[in-house]
Amino acid sequence: MSLSLSPACSIMLFINLMILLMYTISIAFAQPAAFDHYTLAQQWPAGVCKSSTFKCINPIPSSFTIHGLWPSNKLSPHPRKCSPSFDHTKIKSLEPQLRIVWPNLKLTNTNIKFWKDQWDNHGSCSPWTQNDYFMKAMSLQVHNNLTTMLQAKGITPTGGPHQKQLITDAIKHKVHVDPFLVCAARRYLVEIHICFDVTTSLKHVNCPTPNPAQICGTHVIY
Ligand SMILES: *[C@@H]1O[C@H](CO)[C@@H](O)[C@H](O)[C@H]1NC(C)=O
Repeated sequence: MSLSLSPACSIMLFINLMILLMYTISIAFAQPAAFDHYTLAQQWPAGVCKSSTFKCINPIPSSFTIHGLWPSNKLSPHPRKCSPSFDHTKIKSLEPQLRIVWPNLKLTNTNIKFWKDQWDNHGSCSPWTQNDYFMKAMSLQVHNNLTTMLQAKGITPTGGPHQKQLITDAIKHKVHVDPFLVCAARRYLVEIHICFDVTTSLKHVNCPTPNPAQICGTHVIY
């Protein structure tokens, strides 16, 4: 049995096929993820481990470690899960360094899984290759050394309360923009965020206050 179409029907079919084709092309060449700044999140392991419900690796690192470098938006959610997905082989040569400055803290997680999650959820939405993404984050951490900034103002990790304002000021003194301090239960310092614009020079910009629940009180445990 042969199917014959009227001319009008053929035209409709043709138009529909063209629309489908254009739609497919628009997905294949999707715009890169939209975001208006980067957030370098460095975690304070002692604070993370004191305030979280999960068990931490032992020993707990005694300096700030990288959580991630996140393409971010001031007013809308971060882009997530772009492409390509994580390929472990691409960061083999960086691993010895990553294990020191970007360790997973959760006992039940692994470094590889932590790096995979950071790449899949954040890095894959950046304009960088996977290798460059991990290199950029590590380089930004070296150039935004929180330990050095705090030490320069006499702030050391005593495990006791410090004035939040003094911590903020010590960082501002060096980067000239507002960092965002993340606390758990308003007093345990768990992370410090420093933000950058999306130009290739990654200039410092003020961090927005992303989540009111994470804001620190006037004193933070560090
Ligand atoms: C930050 O500076 C401290 C000393 O001030 C140093 O021990 C540490 O290795 C530095 N961290 C990074 C990531 O460069």
